[in-house]
Amino acid sequence: MTIRPDAATLRSPTAVRQADVTVVGGAGHVGIPLVLALAEAGLHVNVNDRNKTSLELLQAGRLPFIEYGAQAVLNKALQEGLLLFSDSPDCISSCGPLIITIGTPIDEFLNPVRKVVQDCIDSVLPFLADGQLVVLRSTVFPGTTDWVASYLRDRGRHLMVAFCPERIVQGAGLKELRELPQIVSGTTPEAEREAAKLFERIAPEVIVLSPIEAEFAKLFTNAYRYIEFAATNEFYLVAKSAGVDYRRVLKAMKHNYPRLKGVPGPGFTAGPCLVKDTMQLAAFARNQFGFGHAALLVNEGLVLHVVDDLKRRYDLPNMTVGLLGMAFKAESDDTRASLSYKFKKILGTQARAVLTTDPFVTTDPELQGLDEVISKSDLMILCAPHRAYREVDFLGKPVFDLWGHLEGGNVIR
Ligand SMILES: NC(=O)c1ccc[n+]([C@@H]2O[C@H](COP(=O)([O-])OP(=O)(O)OC[C@H]3O[C@@H](n4cnc5c(N)ncnc54)[C@H](O)[C@@H]3O)[C@@H](O)[C@H]2O)c1
Repeated sequence: MTIRPDAATLRSPTAVRQADVTVVGGAGHVGIPLVLALAEAGLHVNVNDRNKTSLELLQAGRLPFIEYGAQAVLNKALQEGLLLFSDSPDCISSCGPLIITIGTPIDEFLNPVRKVVQDCIDSVLPFLADGQLVVLRSTVFPGTTDWVASYLRDRGRHLMVAFCPERIVQGAGLKELRELPQIVSGTTPEAEREAAKLFERIAPEVIVLSPIEAEFAKLFTNAYRYIEFAATNEFYLVAKSAGVDYRRVLKAMKHNYPRLKGVPGPGFTAGPCLVKDTMQLAAFARNQFGFGHAALLVNEGLVLHVVDDLKRRYDLPNMTVGLLGMAFKAESDDTRASLSYKFKKILGTQARAVLTTDPFVTTDPELQGLDEVISKSDLMILCAPHRAYREVDFLGKPVFDLWGHLEGGNVIR
């Protein structure tokens, strides 16, 4: 099935197949900003995704999730007829580059799932023309790009294969695509050259690496972030065990001291990428990635620490606990791998009742309004530090705030 845009010139499936570039997974969190950046550069983009709901929303001019600054660009791209929508592999373009931005999860063993990439390649392969450029944009296990190239060669196909990792921060992808250098790599000089040419159209700068270097660059970037958050979270725990307010210490450490400028404050570190990519690296390192595993223990363990702490201070079994913010981070509507749900699960066995709320999340039918959660809760936990919570009257009830986001006598740390 092909979903067609309104522009009369782009109605036929032939038009879809002649788009300048196809983005497979184009209606996802990485796909949408990339699609819009390519359209901003004047390219006709085939937005190929198996999620029909997201495609229909996009086609109707609505973003399926929060992407700051993207609405006006989407409107303009639709008006100019630059977006074409397709929901099956047989509708990919047979001329321009194919960029793959599908999800690349880890499995129950915390290991990468290469089959996801293989299945995607298998599905589009019959519809690709020899000579086309295939760009892996999803985060992949080291060696995957070379493996894809040899997989295609073994099937007698002559395609150019590149890996150009996405490094945007979710929600601000379009802005960052305009500002950040793009790392590109190719399995042949032609693939590398064509990938560089493509990303030069949307990026201020292109950095060329070999595929394995680029794969590591992406995983190291995310693992470093994850470890950095774990380090500050562990400092928080050490300080707390001594009865010291870590935030005061951190503030003093950073004050007019450039070397520590980037140290983050403590927080619940989660989301769809950091843990997954740290574990991909751990799998590559034969589970000998000490820092990565230690970071997992600290960041995931923080939730248990907070629950134990609250158990010591309060009569939890007789209390209703309200969780504020179910997205994995502030100002986001994305609940994927959010530690808020770990709180919900654990407190479900430790407290009388658990109530949840979030001003952004639209995908969880169990959420309640903020006022209702405040009035029914005996104790609250600030799980995601959305800005709006700063202005809220919590009726003098205790709110646990690890982030240092809230002020007031009722705030506990
Ligand atoms: N979310 C981020 O901020 C971010 C940042 C950098 C890199 N990444 C990486 O980018 C990749 C995508 O992440 P995401 O957050 O956009 O995931 P997502 O789930 O939001 O988007 C993936 C999209 O791919 C579609 N899809 C999956 N398989 C498909 C197939 N075979 N054919 C067509 N469509 C298919 C899904 O329907 C979905 O719309 C992952 O490898 C992730 O690690 C994500």
